[in-house]
Amino acid sequence: MAEIAPSILAADFANLQRDVEMINSSSAGYIHVDIMDGMFVPNISFGLPVCEAIHKHAQKPLDVHLMIEQPDRYLEAFRNAGASVLTVHYEACPHLHSTIQHIRELGAEPGVALNPHTPVEVLSEIMGDVSLILIMSVNPGFGGQKFIENSYRKIAALDAYRKKFGYNFKIEVDGGVNLNNAPRLVREGVDILVAGSFVFTSPDPIQTITELGNS
Ligand code: DX5
Ligand code: ZN
Repeated sequence: MAEIAPSILAADFANLQRDVEMINSSSAGYIHVDIMDGMFVPNISFGLPVCEAIHKHAQKPLDVHLMIEQPDRYLEAFRNAGASVLTVHYEACPHLHSTIQHIRELGAEPGVALNPHTPVEVLSEIMGDVSLILIMSVNPGFGGQKFIENSYRKIAALDAYRKKFGYNFKIEVDGGVNLNNAPRLVREGVDILVAGSFVFTSPDPIQTITELGNS
């Protein structure tokens, strides 16, 4: 069993309200909101006004994934735009401890994301301070990419840290998630599966969310 965070990046942007309402009526635990700045990642997605508009219709907490440089500049703005979880990239934060404290002070749950090449060990001194660790299982920037198999090993290593030291962060995986890899991801320790294209291109997205959740 896992919580599902459908990624709104794969929604129809001309029908955002309809797609948010679909997620509302599903068993999803969160709405995953991908923010891309064209600098940290090559792509630009959308920004604060769209996040606010999603929040206006959302009945699930917003899980905001900041793929942006210098995210500290925008933490408060995204919190005000409705973020419940605020995830920053390790690779974008030279003062990660302070960034995490700031997110907590704003009343949101702090998350840290790791790119595929970044080992989980870099977070060893901060694992007790975060609510969530997000393993990128594709290179961030685009939906619809192929799942990177090495992600299983990173998830298992994080789960081992959690058990050894009694940390209670959640493990989230993002990129190329589908019904083939979901069962193993859950076995290795994932709590939250992000799924974009697999949900939104399926004939019955609500049913697909339920099936992923039962993995
Ligand atoms: C990629 C984003 C993902 C993306 C996942 O940079 O962080 O959240 O929407 O899309 P799929 O599930 O299609 O790989
Ligand atoms: Zn994401």
